[in-house]
Amino acid sequence: SIIHVILTGGVGSRLWPLSRKSQPKQYLEIFENKSLFEMTVERNSHLADKVMVVGNVDNHHLSGKVMNKTKTVYVNIVEATPRNTAAAIAFAAFASNPEDILIITPSDHIIDKIDAYNDAIQAAVFKAQDGFIVTFGIIPTKPETGYGYIESKGDKVLSFREKPNETTAKEFIARGNFLWNSGMFCFKAGVLLEELKQFQPDVYDKSKAVWESSKDGFLDLDLSLEIPSISIDYAVMERSKKIKVVPASFSWSDLGSFESVYEYLVSKGHPIDKNGNMVIGCENHTTFLGLSNTIFVHTNTANLILQKENSQDVKDVYNELEKQN
Ligand code: GDD
Ligand code: MG
Repeated sequence: SIIHVILTGGVGSRLWPLSRKSQPKQYLEIFENKSLFEMTVERNSHLADKVMVVGNVDNHHLSGKVMNKTKTVYVNIVEATPRNTAAAIAFAAFASNPEDILIITPSDHIIDKIDAYNDAIQAAVFKAQDGFIVTFGIIPTKPETGYGYIESKGDKVLSFREKPNETTAKEFIARGNFLWNSGMFCFKAGVLLEELKQFQPDVYDKSKAVWESSKDGFLDLDLSLEIPSISIDYAVMERSKKIKVVPASFSWSDLGSFESVYEYLVSKGHPIDKNGNMVIGCENHTTFLGLSNTIFVHTNTANLILQKENSQDVKDVYNELEKQN
């Protein structure tokens, strides 16, 4: 069968204070009273026979609420502690049959042009049936260092480079045949596990042990802590020879930072003043004097005022506040 696997491990710390440990960004009902998580469930519901959610003890009740609301039957995998995406994906694969096709998606991306999305998934499923690991390539618009890059020729992947530094990212953009990795994948469970076993046997072995000792999808903390924390991008995508890419003609944003939230909201008609200043989360009349490209974020318990260009630094604020608690 075809299984939609939703990864929902992250907090989204670069969107603090919208995003909190107790309320990660994918559960915030910020778009038409729906959360990104709910939109992810709906977008894929007709593309798969089964749904699996890989989340953690802190958020699985939030996923459960959405699954109730959307009447979605699902397999629930609850991590005791986040061990990064290689392990999270391994759990989903161990919970499946080797021949099952898994469509892996994050739970916190915005995707528009749904017909193009459906076509891309269809194309990926076909390639996955032939034993390939499929990535989805986005045409890059800037030398972003927070993404993986897919060097491609047609659907062939020449190389995969996770999170290059700025110089390298600029070089990739200049060379022209590099796409951003969307963070979504499609493959046969068995194929992914073989590659993981070959390239990252420690993650394979330890994740297997954790999965085999799980109870009703709940994973053991002590055993989990032994799993090396590495992303699927470094563990498998950079090394496997079985990777293919499907170009994504759907529109995509990972809403990873306030800069991308800003761009997305502007594209949706959210107001900015003549100097590009924006208010998020507050209906009060707000005036910006002598400021440009400033974002004012209001929540009941915290405010954030930032220069749009400083969006990546919000993570540090979050980490600092975490330490104090
Ligand atoms: N269950 C679970 N457990 N989920 C996790 C864990 C974990 O330990 N760690 C991360 N995730 C989830 C996140 O919530 C997110 O939905 C997804 O897996 C990807 O993790 P990120 O931490 O957001 O990865 P990234 O943004 O740094 O990089 C990935 O995505 C980029 C596009 O957004 C890579 O795949 C890049 O190559 C890609 O360009
Ligand atoms: Mg991300």
